[in-house]
Formats: sequence, structure tokens, C-alpha cells
Amino acid sequence: MSFDLVFFGGTGDLTWRKLMPALFQAFRHGKLPEGGRVLAVARDEQDDDQYRAWLKDRFQDVIDAKRPSDEEFARFADLLHYRRLDLSKPEHYQRLKDWLAERDADTVVLYLATSPYLFPQICEQLGRAGLNGPKIRVVLEKPLGHDLASAQEINRVVRSVFKEEQAFRIDHYLGKPSVQNLMALRFGNVLFEPLWRRESIANVQITIAEDIGVGTRGDFYDKTGALRDMIQNHALQLLTMVAMEPPSRNDADAIRDEKLKVLRSLKPFTEHSVARDVVRGQYRAGTSNGKAVLGYREEDKVPGDSQRETFVALRTEVQNWRWAGVPFYLRTGKRLAARDAQIVVNFRATPHNIFPGVNAPNKFVIKLQPEDGLELHLLAAKGAAQHEPLSPVSLDLDFDKAFAENRVGAYERLLLEVIAGRLNLFVRSDEQEQAWRWVEPVLDAWDKDSAGPRIYAAGTWGPAAASALVARDGYAWSEEE
Ligand code: BG6
Repeated sequence: MSFDLVFFGGTGDLTWRKLMPALFQAFRHGKLPEGGRVLAVARDEQDDDQYRAWLKDRFQDVIDAKRPSDEEFARFADLLHYRRLDLSKPEHYQRLKDWLAERDADTVVLYLATSPYLFPQICEQLGRAGLNGPKIRVVLEKPLGHDLASAQEINRVVRSVFKEEQAFRIDHYLGKPSVQNLMALRFGNVLFEPLWRRESIANVQITIAEDIGVGTRGDFYDKTGALRDMIQNHALQLLTMVAMEPPSRNDADAIRDEKLKVLRSLKPFTEHSVARDVVRGQYRAGTSNGKAVLGYREEDKVPGDSQRETFVALRTEVQNWRWAGVPFYLRTGKRLAARDAQIVVNFRATPHNIFPGVNAPNKFVIKLQPEDGLELHLLAAKGAAQHEPLSPVSLDLDFDKAFAENRVGAYERLLLEVIAGRLNLFVRSDEQEQAWRWVEPVLDAWDKDSAGPRIYAAGTWGPAAASALVARDGYAWSEEE
């Protein structure tokens, strides 16, 4: 199957930091279909060789194991081409069309790795140039909008040019092997499904903690914040995968229909419940991994009086028969104590205890990163004495060890899926809009609330109020138990 892959924003950060290295990995692993051409387009004037040399230089920043040797790069570079394209000029799109028509590949992927503010303009121009035929797929990178209205506007323009099945909206968490494994775990095994409901589960905790700060992205981040950057997309996608009903088929719409139902079942926020159930925080100076680090307001390109949240913890419920009354806690933040993304499913206590002491309920931990694995926490008898208290034990599974060979990174997986035309790992417009609809009352309530975020020291687990949020229901975050 021949394909042409076009990167708009071909000299931008996303292209050289994430997309090209991922594409190179796919090439190295022999997973890229034969007969591909890759075209980077951007404003600068340069030819193919200059672009290849520039990219080779950029690849020096890629971690050792993923960096190509000279010989590998030379082979990879044969796929790469470059054309100047001014996004506002119709004749430049016409030139792109001519280039694509030269060989009429089976599939054409147009990857918009630009600022989302440019999506409407690019899509309109693509439509006018007739670059929206059935062989064409368009890939849209997050952040898709700033709120519901802007997301709807982007979708309106995209839909006026492309069919829904031509639009691949990226949430890179869906490309992570650990996240795909959630589907396998739930719907490829009978073991968990009977217990996966309110009768057996006390609460679910989804944490995406980062130890890094905002780095060089202060400008972007201060307009965005943790709710838009992580909760509206990554954390909610994880929640839908934990809470969804079994889809009838492993196909994109069957899966996305079920995810949408979960998003529609989330308990809506009111001004009152935002004050009670959502905690926002902002890091001050502290220590991260043994090093003194700046506070958020001292970061580059962040205003000294910024009220932007770098941390969010919230409590919600999925209002349906399976999950009624079960708290779902979501938490994310920058400059937290560790880089750690995991889903903790806390089971209910045994109904009647016949052993001495208090028995900790079972806990199932789905570790997403840095490790990718599962832990099932159980109780067992040591067998040392009669009437002994039970001891905690855990069954641990490390997927990086179990499946050591060629595990595919998130962007590599997503690029391959787009080229193959499989939409399962991409977000449909109605899902994305529903997620915005749900977070918007939180943004509105914060706008009206002059109290601002709660301050936490860098290198900790966020403001104390986040612990209180969970403690109110009689629970604790996993690391506090
Ligand atoms: C991005 C956010 O979507 O996800 C970043 O914009 C965040 O702020 C990143 O750092 C986290 O991704 P990962 O794969 O490193 O967990």
C-alpha cells in the first residue's frame, strides 16, 4: 500500500521532537508500509537536502537508543521531502496537490502539526484546493480548542471539508501500549468483568502525575492550565475506558459510542459542586528529584501574578446502573513528587471478617507509566501460626518485561494507525465536545472565584485539600495509605 504523509508545521517542535522520531522508529522496526513518501511543509525556503541535514541535526537531541546511525538516517532520509508552503496562499496548496498527483498514492495523510488556531484556515484551503477526496485523512493535534465554542468551531470547519471518518483527532494517551491494554484487560478476560461494578468497587482513582515543571512552554501553559491540558482529554479518556460498557465489536464507532455514553453520564458540575469537588493548585518553589526548582510564577514567560492552575484533583460520579454512587477521583499536576500515571481500583471490604485485625480491601493497580504493568493486592495467611492476622501480598505483572520485543511508542502506534486508516485510537468530535461541555462549568466557576489556586510546594503531591477531598468519603490516595 503506497502512502504520502504530509506534515504541516514541518519545521515545528512537534514534528522534530515527536513525529519524526516516531516515524523513524516505525521505519527501523520495519512497520512502515513499503512505498511511502514523507513531505514536510513549512514557511522556510529550503530544498530536500537542506531539510534532511537540518532534521539529522535535530535528531542529535533524541535519546541514544532511539537515535539513528548515519547509515540508518541515510536510508530513512530517502523518504523525506520538503516544500515551502505559505498557509494563506491558495497557489501553494495547488502545488501540494500537484506533488501528490505525481504518483497518486493509495493513501494521503495530512498531519496538521501546527497551532490549532490555524486548523480552520488550513482546512478551508485544503477544501478549496480539492484536497479532501476519499483517499485523504487529516490528523488534528491537541489542544483542539480552548473551550466548547472554539472546539465546536474547529469541528464545524473540519466537517464542512472532511467526513468524520477522514478526521483523526489525536489524544496521544490512546496510543500508549498500557492504555490499549486496558481494553484487552477488560474485554479480553472474564476475570474482572463480573466485579467491575458498584457492588464490588468502592472507588476509582486516576492519577497522571508529572515531576517536570512547565519548562519552556510557560506562554502556552499560562493560557491553558492543567484542566484543559490534561483533564479534558487524557484523564477523561482513561476514565471512559475504565467505565465504559463492553462494546459489541472492536471497531472505532462501537468503542467511541460507549465512551461517549460514559461522558454523557458524568455528574454535571454546578458552581456549588465545583467549590466542593474540585481542587486547583499551583506550585511554588521547592525540591524536585533532589534539586531546587522554581515556582510556577518564576518560570519563563509566566506572569508573576498568574492564577493559572498547575494541579487539579476532582471527584465525580458516573451516573448509571453500573457505577451509581462510586466516586471517581481524577488528579493531575506538574512538579509533583514523581512521574507516575496509574489507575487504582479500590474494591470494597469483605462483608464479614473472620480473621484477627482489620483487613485491607483488595486493590487493583493499572500502572501506565513510567512502568507499564498490573498489581493485584490481596491478603494471604503466612502459615506461621494459628489465628494470625492476614498479610498483604501482591501479584505483579510487568508488561515491559513480558513483551520486551519491539513495544511501540504512542506516536509510532498512532502514525501507523492513521496510515492504515483505523480510527479506534482516535477521538470522535462528539466525544471531544462532550468532554468540553463537562469541564466548562469548572472553568466558569473559577473565573468568578477570586480565591485562585491553592499553593503547593514543588516536589509534593499537591495541596492538602486534594487529600481532604478523598478523605471526606473515608478514602485516601494510594500513596497516602
Ligand atoms: C501533553 C501535555 O498532552 O501531555 C503536556 O500538553 C504533558 O503538558 C504531556 O506534559 C504528558 O504526556 P506524557 O506522555 O509524557 O505523559
